[in-house]
Amino acid sequence: MTHILHRQIRHTLPVAVSAQGLHITDSQGRQYIDASGGAAVSCLGHGHPEVLAAMHAQTSRLAYAHTSFFTTEVAEQLADQLVRTAPAGISHAYFVSGGSEAVEAALKMARQYFVEIGQSQRQHFIARRQSYHGNTLGALAVGGNAWRRQQFAPLLIPVTHVSSCYEYRGRVEGETAFAYGQRLVAELAAAIDGLGGDNVIAFVAETVGGATSGALTPVPGYLQGVRELCTRHGILLILDEVMCGMGRTGTLHACEAEDVLPDLLVIAKGLGGGYQPIGAVLTQGHIVDAFAQGSGLFQHGHTYLGHPVACAAALAVQQVIERDGLIPRVQRLGQDLRQRLLSAFGDHPQVGDVRGRGLFQAIELVADRASKAPFPTGLKLHARIKAEAMARGLMVYPMGGTIDGVSGDHVLLAPPFIATDDDLDRIVSRLRAAVDAAL
Ligand SMILES: Cc1ncc(COP(=O)(O)O)c(C=O)c1O
Repeated sequence: MTHILHRQIRHTLPVAVSAQGLHITDSQGRQYIDASGGAAVSCLGHGHPEVLAAMHAQTSRLAYAHTSFFTTEVAEQLADQLVRTAPAGISHAYFVSGGSEAVEAALKMARQYFVEIGQSQRQHFIARRQSYHGNTLGALAVGGNAWRRQQFAPLLIPVTHVSSCYEYRGRVEGETAFAYGQRLVAELAAAIDGLGGDNVIAFVAETVGGATSGALTPVPGYLQGVRELCTRHGILLILDEVMCGMGRTGTLHACEAEDVLPDLLVIAKGLGGGYQPIGAVLTQGHIVDAFAQGSGLFQHGHTYLGHPVACAAALAVQQVIERDGLIPRVQRLGQDLRQRLLSAFGDHPQVGDVRGRGLFQAIELVADRASKAPFPTGLKLHARIKAEAMARGLMVYPMGGTIDGVSGDHVLLAPPFIATDDDLDRIVSRLRAAVDAAL
């Protein structure tokens, strides 16, 4: 009998006891290929000796110092590393312990920025349906997944949600991908006009949609149109790259591929690669300047901000990725993975879409390819696929509610950047077997 309140109460989990490289081993001696990096976390795989050594060294030297008393060398070095490699204009990093905390900090930073510059009438956030930004109340409020929001709706700040960029289902026949993106930009423009452009704080979006939507890549021109619109109205652009960032899609930051500069860039997961809990908000200089010239502080904070051991782990992870050229490797492996998925599922009658970028790929399941009709929700196909995959020693990240928070199923893959082509073969053939068994 467990005393942990697990995510699922009527479900018994295997006990993970050790992990190395791409594999996690349970207490029964069963091995699982970690083809999803947990939830797109373990970018370097498990047990990387250099990351472990950096953490041990930091723990022995200085395990903790509260950030209201001290800064630390390791946190300063991590900030230097992140700013050096960040999109133009990013000048500072704010370190927290995970993705939801980072989103909360970004929302507060954005609001305080406007208070500092005398625009305190700006009170509204706009975000997208089907997005996921975390489970704390602010992050849940900007998130657009209907099921996750439903019972907590009375506790959430009001947020306006517009359509996500979901080409497979959103683009109509005869419409180009570019025209579809511009239609979405026009929808956002209408939402901004409805609220009044100078009442809006920020537009919040995942650069590439992740957990709740399954590797939704933006169509060409869409995010650029969004950026122009935000700039025109003085609205901040907050890009949430907690899942898709830090090399996962083949560029360090996913927004690099879109040629778009966010005002606040939110990162986590692959930042520390699962070795320690850490997230960050990367901040444009003009926002920090407003704080510096105004109140002189960011009115926020947690006990574990900039935790030295978390910073040491993240610094080591990022140094290994840079030194070993793992981001170009993600681009190459991403194409290999995509080709394998297309040959396994491209003609599969129950797979409507294979999508994604880099080592962030997904398949969307459909009952009927022609009509794109989803499977009945009660079937919980995503959960069946997860169980069949685990039974075959494979960890993938399936989710239901892909279409509208209720119906639709997808399976997300996010293998470590150290995977080999043989690993990709094993992953895709086990996934194919799991999908067929679940169906
Ligand atoms: C895009 C995005 N933002 C925020 C979060 C929340 O991160 P965390 O679970 O670390 O709080 C997630 C988690 O999946 C995410 O995918």
